[in-house]
Amino acid sequence: MDRLQQDNLFPHRHLLGIADLSASEIGFLLDVSDSYIDVNRGPNKKQTKLRGQTVINLFFENSTRTRTSFELAGKRLSADVINMSVATSSIKKGETMVDTSMTLNAMHPDVLVVRHPDSGAVKLLSEKINGAVINAGDGSHEHPTQALLDALTVRRRRGRIQGLIVAICGDVLHSRVARSNIHLLNKMGAQVRLVAPPTLLPTNVERLGVEVFHDMRTGLMDCDIVMMLRLQTERMRGTFVPSTREYFHFFGLDSDKLAVAKPDALVMHPGPMNRGVEIDSVLADDITHSAILDQVEFGVAVRMACLDVLTNNLRADATGMVS
Ligand code: NCD
Repeated sequence: MDRLQQDNLFPHRHLLGIADLSASEIGFLLDVSDSYIDVNRGPNKKQTKLRGQTVINLFFENSTRTRTSFELAGKRLSADVINMSVATSSIKKGETMVDTSMTLNAMHPDVLVVRHPDSGAVKLLSEKINGAVINAGDGSHEHPTQALLDALTVRRRRGRIQGLIVAICGDVLHSRVARSNIHLLNKMGAQVRLVAPPTLLPTNVERLGVEVFHDMRTGLMDCDIVMMLRLQTERMRGTFVPSTREYFHFFGLDSDKLAVAKPDALVMHPGPMNRGVEIDSVLADDITHSAILDQVEFGVAVRMACLDVLTNNLRADATGMVS
């Protein structure tokens, strides 16, 4: 991105979270991402921006769309992409995360894309790495590329983010997607509501600048965007909901509950979806409302933009432009 080198519009070595970014830096990443949507829809998807560079996807947690999306993004920019999952790595032989990362670092990757079950682990790792690090989700802390692709989806479908009412519904407590989205939407001037049972909300969540509701029909009133979240049972210690059937009854999104939102309200979900738990199956497939597959599509464009911008910064680093 030549614009970047000229104007220093994204002066960061790593992408660890949305909390660290300004509204203009987010806007810049979204603009670059937008330009990659057309590339991905065209007949020639292969760009040469990352030719000669190496991207390692290091996933200590399961993933389908995020890992595939980063892999495709790297390949479409002509990088050499290596995928490492914990199931097949030396972590299984007792190696620590830091030792595994240092080993990979010695092979000179330009970008390390890391997902880890512990909040803060990706930042720790970034301090030991020479290249750029992208957080692909750390515990229940942040998942910046998911928030960026959600924002790109909203911007494409609604033309703006500023002034929209966005309801984030469900298991906010365990969700890094919710946290990154709350930061991003607030910075970009949206009005954020959280709709969840008290057991699935962090304490003092109002401090993040959101309105809290415990009832879908009041929380969704006049909303422009409804973001649904999965019950992240793998992060739960104990019981947080009486039963998934009861949960669907009160907090599952169906067309009845959606009826109080704006008539053209968009329904979003980061995936993986649990149909019949947090979202009604028919509604999930209803293309008049559902933007779920747009989210997947735009995810590749966002990841191409992040790889492009960060590797550009690595090149500019010698000039001392990047913090
Ligand atoms: C999310 C995640 O891993 O945080 N999925 C994703 O990246 N698309 C949400 C989830 O697992 O529920």
